[in-house]
Amino acid sequence: MGEIEFTEKQEALVKESWEILKQDIPKYSLHFFSQILEIAPAAKNMFSFLRDSNEVPHNNPKLKAHAVKVFKMTCETAIQLREKGKVVVADTTLQYLGSVHLKNGVLDLHFEVVKEALVRTLKEGLGEKYNEEVENAWSQAYDHLALAIKTEMKQED
Ligand code: HEM
Repeated sequence: MGEIEFTEKQEALVKESWEILKQDIPKYSLHFFSQILEIAPAAKNMFSFLRDSNEVPHNNPKLKAHAVKVFKMTCETAIQLREKGKVVVADTTLQYLGSVHLKNGVLDLHFEVVKEALVRTLKEGLGEKYNEEVENAWSQAYDHLALAIKTEMKQED
């Protein structure tokens, strides 16, 4: 695959917006998961911490951990795309990500659901600072990361 064009500006937009959302992890992780369930109610059954309750649990460590991972790894991907023109995830991490998602029944289409939830959470968190450029930068980084995970999942199949 050729090098991916990801600009310094895009990298800065992703980093800056993650800095803002990071200031209230409980709030934004809750918002993120509420959006996932609004878009795809059936996704509830995949997550151990959602399965047994009727609402999205507040201050659940696993819920926060997953939300943070998605945002943080997307942000790290943005940095790698700008620095190296490609996604760089350690092989062991990628294998782990592949197997966890495969084991939990995650399908390609779920990655689109999570992307939409991520975009909506950015909108909520950034308010006036949110714009199409920010959305595109996050979307691009997320798509490349998601592709790496999906590819790994297929190899493990
Ligand atoms: C678990 C990251 C997308 C569903 C995990 C874990 C990580 C992770 C690191 C392991 C958590 C741990 O045990 O420490 C990511 C990243 C994603 C992504 C970076 C996208 C770029 C998705 C999608 C779904 C999903 C699209 C499905 C809608 C799950 C589930 C688990 C999991 C069900 C097991 C969590 C549990 O029940 O405790 N993910 N994930 N993930 N992920 Fe993802």
